[in-house]
Amino acid sequence: MTDSLDERLWDGRRVFLTGHTGFKGSWLSLWLHRLGARLFGYALPPPTHPNHFEAAQVRSLFTGHTEADVRDVPRLQAALNAADPEVIFHLAAQALVRTGYAQPHETFEINALGTANLLEAVRRRGRGCVVLIVTSDKCYENCEATREFRETDPLGGADPYSASKAAAELVTAAYRRSFFAPERVREHRIKLASVRAGNVLGGGDWAPDRIAVDAITHLSKGAPIPVRNPDAIRPWQHVLDPLAGYLTLAGSMLRSDDAALCSAWNFGPQHGAEISVRQLVQRFCAAWGGGTWVDQSDPRQPPEAGALRLNIDKAVSQLRWRPCWRLARAVEETVRWYRAHLAGEDMRTFGLSQIDAFESDAIGVPMETAHIRAPGR
Ligand SMILES: NC(=O)c1ccc[n+]([C@@H]2O[C@H](COP(=O)([O-])OP(=O)(O)OC[C@H]3O[C@@H](n4cnc5c(N)ncnc54)[C@H](O)[C@@H]3O)[C@@H](O)[C@H]2O)c1
Repeated sequence: MTDSLDERLWDGRRVFLTGHTGFKGSWLSLWLHRLGARLFGYALPPPTHPNHFEAAQVRSLFTGHTEADVRDVPRLQAALNAADPEVIFHLAAQALVRTGYAQPHETFEINALGTANLLEAVRRRGRGCVVLIVTSDKCYENCEATREFRETDPLGGADPYSASKAAAELVTAAYRRSFFAPERVREHRIKLASVRAGNVLGGGDWAPDRIAVDAITHLSKGAPIPVRNPDAIRPWQHVLDPLAGYLTLAGSMLRSDDAALCSAWNFGPQHGAEISVRQLVQRFCAAWGGGTWVDQSDPRQPPEAGALRLNIDKAVSQLRWRPCWRLARAVEETVRWYRAHLAGEDMRTFGLSQIDAFESDAIGVPMETAHIRAPGR
């Protein structure tokens, strides 16, 4: 994994990110800039106030920054052509399940058609590059089974957000089969993969309806944390873990023409990191040094998936990536970030120190601790 975090691989690389003003995109930008990449971003303004993009002063890391919509095809094409990237990370999305219920049509337009717009811009540009499309663990047909989802499992999605992410996967697979065939990569030089991660924790997220955000917001006010789905089980992970997965995959694709890399990849936590929202909230209270939560389950609220588990065998065995920070550490680092923010620290410096700590810890993670199969698979 650490080979792909090698500065020699990224130094001077032209990287185009959509969604760089968002939570994950701004962390990825911070990391890529630290590795020496030249950054070009395309996104709407940060979706919340406050936000990580501004808190860590990420805007100044960009050589090119376009504030525009992924549905604006001419602007997207122009920004992509001007950036002339070697690597593209597509993170721009309507990223919330509940907003998907409120604005289903827009969610499909941004997430599914937005992905088609980006891939069409890549096709029309006609120049070689590595493209990673960020979807979600929610792209799978979720029959509430207790087993883990593998990359070969059927796509689905009962709610608009989940279905829009499955649709983004289908769009990606269709462009790959039709225009960027992995077995002909030496001719067209366009390498396309999709990446599926679970629910991420980390400093700088203020999105509504995310439990870690609710936890921190209420703990900092000394108020009980409202919990809507205490029994929902999610594969929680620190934001740097899937981002390390994206960097590892993109790095492998830069180095190798192996057709197998141009496919779908899960980047979830270690087996056992899937715990209920109730347990997660208890861990946040403990890491904060006190606090309470209150059950606000409401049978009339829109349904969310009950259990989601990702199988990561493929990334562990084929990329030698593995999750690094266990759940306790992920919660602890998240709490540390918000405490530093409340104390008025420089959050760019603080974030970079967390990336440094993560990188040194990643060197020491033995492969076998990550490669634990779920029972029955
Ligand atoms: N945060 C999570 O737990 C999680 C889990 C799984 C997958 N994901 C996926 O990761 C990606 C990033 O998620 P995030 O948590 O950083 O989301 P976020 O809401 O913080 O950021 C979304 C980004 O997309 C941009 N955007 C939204 N609509 C746009 C549009 N119409 N045109 C251009 N830009 C637009 C926003 O400006 C922002 O930069 C998304 O694709 C999301 O679906 C997130």
